[in-house]
Amino acid sequence: MSISATRTNVLLSKARKHFQEGTLFEKSRSFLARTVLAAPERIRLKYNGGAFEVPDIGRTYFAEGAQTYLEKRSQHEDWRLEQVAVASFLEQIPDGSSVLDVPFGTGRFVELYLDKRMDIFGIEQSSDMIKAAKNSLGTSFDSCSVQTGDALTLPFEDNSFDLVVSFRFIPHIISYDQALVALKEFHRVTSRFAIVQLGEREPGEYRRRLPKGHEKMESWLYPAEVEELLQGIGFEILEKTQPLHAATTTTMKYAKNIGDWRGYLCRKSL
Ligand SMILES: C[S@@+](CC[C@H](N)C(=O)[O-])C[C@H]1O[C@@H](n2cnc3c(N)ncnc32)[C@H](O)[C@@H]1O
Repeated sequence: MSISATRTNVLLSKARKHFQEGTLFEKSRSFLARTVLAAPERIRLKYNGGAFEVPDIGRTYFAEGAQTYLEKRSQHEDWRLEQVAVASFLEQIPDGSSVLDVPFGTGRFVELYLDKRMDIFGIEQSSDMIKAAKNSLGTSFDSCSVQTGDALTLPFEDNSFDLVVSFRFIPHIISYDQALVALKEFHRVTSRFAIVQLGEREPGEYRRRLPKGHEKMESWLYPAEVEELLQGIGFEILEKTQPLHAATTTTMKYAKNIGDWRGYLCRKSL
């Protein structure tokens, strides 16, 4: 389908408005098709019967993306809320515990771990992000044992850590299938606790279907389904936060009124 750029922009801004107001799904399929399926490449959104995907953001965390990661995000309110959430969960973890942070990113929680005299380990796919962590953390980085690796196949024995922490990863970086694998890996390598960020959908909010395996998990599961998923893996939710995001990622911006990401403090129950 080919329509002019100006016309597409007008349609897209209408679509955005409907998303923000939570009324998009009342609009016709042809409206969706004209706006989103016809979106120009630079918008890079794909309508997936209820889910909007941002394809292949994996390379974002290399080279300049890694160097500017922290400065682009650390002043945002949702970043601050996440720091507060993790600090509050950590109060419930014994001092001196070992922690695996995956993906480690720029090591944003390291100072919190150090305050609790924790043994700190990190896994991160991007060596450039690890370099950025080293730059931003200075000497604190020397207290951490960080290596490149894949969250889906963690290079550790079962029960190696007291705690696994994972933020800004499961909902939007990997696919739903991979999210399940990663959560199972977190469960395998922790002996006691996990602090994870997941999305959940307001009860009663529209959902046409569950995400497919290749789609992102985002906030498509209702709270009871998130709980059931974690239980199936062997985690019991001890506490969860209020929504932490003011719709910062592209997908969340468009799906603002239909769920949000929260922090979950979980205990290994099986
Ligand atoms: C949004 S950042 C989050 C980093 C950090 N947890 C934070 O909250 O700032 C996502 C990170 O996941 C890393 N990543 C993506 N896929 C990965 C994988 N399969 N295994 C390990 N790290 C991965 C990226 O390199 C990137 O640093």
